[in-house]
Amino acid sequence: MNSTTGNLKVADKAMDLPLKKGTIGPDVLDIAALYGKTGMFTYDPGFTSTASCESAITYIDGDKGVLLHRGYPIEQLAEHGDFLETCYVLFHGELPTAAQKADFDYRVTRHTMVHEQMARFFHGFRRDAHPMAVMVASVGALSAFYHDSTDITDPQQRMVASMRMIAKIPTLAAMAFKYNIGQPFVYPNNTLDYTSNFLRMCFAVPCEDYKVNQVLARALDRIFILHADHEQNASTSTVRLAGSSGANPFACIAAGIASLWGPAHGGANEAALKMLGEIGTVDRIPHYIARAKDKNDSFRLMGFGHRVYKNYDPRAKIMQKTCHEVLAELGINDDPLLDVAMELERIALHDDYFIEKKLYPNIDFYSGITLKAMGFPTNMFTVLFAVARTVGWIAQWREMIEDPHQKIGRPRQLYVGAPKRDYVPISKRREA
Ligand code: SDX
Repeated sequence: MNSTTGNLKVADKAMDLPLKKGTIGPDVLDIAALYGKTGMFTYDPGFTSTASCESAITYIDGDKGVLLHRGYPIEQLAEHGDFLETCYVLFHGELPTAAQKADFDYRVTRHTMVHEQMARFFHGFRRDAHPMAVMVASVGALSAFYHDSTDITDPQQRMVASMRMIAKIPTLAAMAFKYNIGQPFVYPNNTLDYTSNFLRMCFAVPCEDYKVNQVLARALDRIFILHADHEQNASTSTVRLAGSSGANPFACIAAGIASLWGPAHGGANEAALKMLGEIGTVDRIPHYIARAKDKNDSFRLMGFGHRVYKNYDPRAKIMQKTCHEVLAELGINDDPLLDVAMELERIALHDDYFIEKKLYPNIDFYSGITLKAMGFPTNMFTVLFAVARTVGWIAQWREMIEDPHQKIGRPRQLYVGAPKRDYVPISKRREA
């Protein structure tokens, strides 16, 4: 890391602080010594100007709409590789050779089953439990089944836990889906690739053979690639903060799933489809655009806007292309939701409000239409996001654990509560 010095003047104090340069992207001012030198904290609640860590995994240029995983553009990974290759790149840092890819696929495939007792764990839920609630619980419960890979100080156990997480998350997701719709669980089939296996676990039933549609499998595999990692987003930051205390990887991933569930984050794909359904027809779009612009209305266009992308989300372009491929494969050429989505995008991209605030469709805008066409219910959309993002979370968790300078994350605050005051016995307190 190249370092020079930045000069900072705070109140009547001037000081030199280290400036750090990355490979690409903004430099950072290392403020670790600021409190010691000034007695002041920085204040940045949404971390809009704060780098929480050094990372070599993913780089985003929000102004140019660029997304790189270990330097490889998302467009190229999505076009030429499969999801497990992207998992390898995120996890190991390089494109795998043919032998490395075959070994990685083999090892993931042979960790896809979950402990048989997990099936009984699911039966504690009501059938109508939201699948994300089931995922938060069941992933956290993995640490109760796999004690032999929870010692985070042991590199071998970290590797085993990481492979188990990547391999078992689709199985748990399929089990959450089957439980929700009242169908029997389907075991993994080791003769199938990762995404075909997942589709079969979701849609096969014991009473007839199931043939995976390879066009849909390829489309879903590409959707997984698009969702694999995205630098220090809310859920990844949650995983890192949980992991910084030494919590086991399964508990950290469960924390990430909990954060992803929010409609401002991974829950936006479910919320975007519900919004398109509420709009219903193209003629009602202007009313919703007006609501989105109304400061007194909390309504936002779900699937639009991004903290980092102030240009088109590169993933959204590929997502839109995949959406059309899936609808064409399924012979769906009159989906009213797609008509509303495309007209809403066209209007928004020409509206001064959205142009001025640099609000573009993000990855969640077209994913809901695509997943619904594939047969997934709305409550499974964020689960699918979690299946894909698990590799990003585990790669970032491992990078943090293996950072020799890693320490527990413990932010400070600006205190705005009551000043020091003495206790008053209840007999002397006045009724309001
Ligand atoms: C994901 O971080 C990641 O990388 C996340 C993610 C990943 O892969 O991990 O990319 C996945 O979470 C994508 C985002 C999915 N969320 C949504 O689609 C929900 C709708 N979008 C918004 O809630 C919002 O755009 C956020 C949360 C995504 C970003 O919010 P910011 O960066 O905090 O921006 P902001 O709320 O400060 O908005 C800036 C302005 C505001 O207006 P002013 O107060 O300046 O007048 O833009 C407006 C907002 O009101 N605005 C919107 C809007 N998003 C922002 N107005 C209408 N509709 C919207 N969607």
